[in-house]
Amino acid sequence: MTIVELKKMYSKKIPITMATAYDFPSAVHVDLAGIDVVLVGDSLGMVVLGYDTTLPVTFDEILHHCRNHTYASKLAVSRGCKRPLLVGDLPFGSYEISAQEAQRNAYRLLKAATLTSIKLEGADAARLRTVETLVNGGIAVMGHIGLTPQSYSTLGGFRAQGKHAQQAVSLIEQARQLVNAGVFAIVLECVPAEVAKEVTERISVPTIGIGAGMHTSGQVLVYHDLLGMMQHPHHAKVTPKFCKQFSSVGVTINEALKEFRREVRERSFPDLNFSPYKMAAGELEIFK
Ligand code: KIV
Ligand code: NA
Repeated sequence: MTIVELKKMYSKKIPITMATAYDFPSAVHVDLAGIDVVLVGDSLGMVVLGYDTTLPVTFDEILHHCRNHTYASKLAVSRGCKRPLLVGDLPFGSYEISAQEAQRNAYRLLKAATLTSIKLEGADAARLRTVETLVNGGIAVMGHIGLTPQSYSTLGGFRAQGKHAQQAVSLIEQARQLVNAGVFAIVLECVPAEVAKEVTERISVPTIGIGAGMHTSGQVLVYHDLLGMMQHPHHAKVTPKFCKQFSSVGVTINEALKEFRREVRERSFPDLNFSPYKMAAGELEIFK
């Protein structure tokens, strides 16, 4: 999957599918399911590392999970993904200081993971300059506006954006400017469907919605959320209300682990079927 192929889907109005992945098995799963775009999102901080926000995620953590060809990393999305377009999320603090630092970090990530595109949040003047610098330097950039989780502190929480006319107009303007700066697609997170529709109709690159209604060019969901994996019976982490759970994998995992424990406790596991190793014929004599 390339950006050119993505553009073709967009011009044919074929909905683009995108999901996150954070390690080898999740990458293999999204690839096998035929998902078009895989994001190693900084949401890994919340669904994999158990943080409350994405702010603590470091550049090295993203690097570790994206990584392709070093022995150090077993968590390698790019080693699990063959077909999808792979996008690495630039984490909080890795691209704000200057366009040059953003460029340096983006190159590091792309080379380590052999991927070709990154995503970053926001569309203020400094961010737009950074996008331009990255694109001019040969890096494909995906934008992300609306609810930008890395703005948790300055926004004072995770809040839907674009409910009021002024905000909606501003979102359209941000999207336009991101397109001018050279992004190949834009994630719209938690904005009213009507606003996402307007943005989508007024720009010339695909919009990928999450909590943004049905009119975007594609949809993205977080792996653990869409699988219903966060339903730990005794934990407070919740799936966002816009997220449909297409399965209840958390329940399946819980049941399997409890069953394992039960069978061990009552000595029904392992039985002979799972005790494959035998001493060679006659050798048992040694214990007599
Ligand atoms: O980190 C992430 O998972 C994301 C998607 C929700 C777009 O940024
Ligand atoms: Na993200």
